[in-house]
Amino acid sequence: MTRPQVSGGAAPIDERHPPIKPRRVSFDWSRTPLHWVPNDPVATHIINSFHIVLPEGEKWFIQCVKDARPHIRDERLLEEIKGFIGQEMVHARSHQGVLDQILERNGIDVSKITDAAGRGNAERPAQMAALKERNPRAWRRRLRFELAAVASIEHYTAVLGQWIMDNDRLDKAGVDPTMLDLLRWHGAEEVEHRSVVFDVYKAVGGRYPTRVAAWVVSLFFLYWALIGGSLYLLKQDPTIKGRVSPLRVYRSYRRSVRLGHVPGIFRLLLGEAPVYLRPDHHPSKVCSTPRALEYLMQSPAAKAGGYDPY
Ligand SMILES: [Fe+2]
Ligand SMILES: [Fe+2]
Repeated sequence: MTRPQVSGGAAPIDERHPPIKPRRVSFDWSRTPLHWVPNDPVATHIINSFHIVLPEGEKWFIQCVKDARPHIRDERLLEEIKGFIGQEMVHARSHQGVLDQILERNGIDVSKITDAAGRGNAERPAQMAALKERNPRAWRRRLRFELAAVASIEHYTAVLGQWIMDNDRLDKAGVDPTMLDLLRWHGAEEVEHRSVVFDVYKAVGGRYPTRVAAWVVSLFFLYWALIGGSLYLLKQDPTIKGRVSPLRVYRSYRRSVRLGHVPGIFRLLLGEAPVYLRPDHHPSKVCSTPRALEYLMQSPAAKAGGYDPY
């Protein structure tokens, strides 16, 4: 994992509080093939499973942070929350584009999952309002737990973001450049805003035991989303329909890991435990904002959206 590093010469970046600004981006999916990791449907669909969970998942992150916002006094954190919400809104929209334009075009329908997640998000504000009215202490407990779960997931999105920015084996494998840019732009912004939810959690009185409990829950969720999501997609893939056996998928997955097309899921998720579960952990101690900014300066989508770093 990359530790923060500040490049010489340029003004040092405050890893704990980098400026967080949403960038307008646009992606043209008209030329992206279904298997955008060439000859590797398993790696393609493992990463595609993020496209399924992220649009509604990131809307849930925003809801949690918005619920906490009225209880935060720190002006700088409030400004960072504004940037975080803006970035996550653009992320959710951009991943939705992959579902609507690449998967749907190829006959892969994930609406059963996304509709259920969308209903959960639609019902949550009324549930939270009713709970706050009925039992304010239980409301605070639930909100803290959800924020802790989001903070854990944000740890992984930042670590994965760093992984995808640093992984040149994907370029060598001929991965579709538009998809690679989407993943790297998103990953870079995840690195930029990696401290926000953790700081919000702390600001509303979040403590260590809840952070650990929520990490365990989010770990199960991530395993389910990655493994279940990729099997669901592989079963619907028109080019390999009917030839999906768990052993075959596992062998292909091991090959994809060896080739550097995907990270080792078990090693990545559990391997972060000693980092994330340190009582004195802070997200600013992992990943590199200068590296994220370096990528964002060259990202075709960010440049097309008018991002000018100078
Ligand atoms: Fe995001
Ligand atoms: Fe995020």
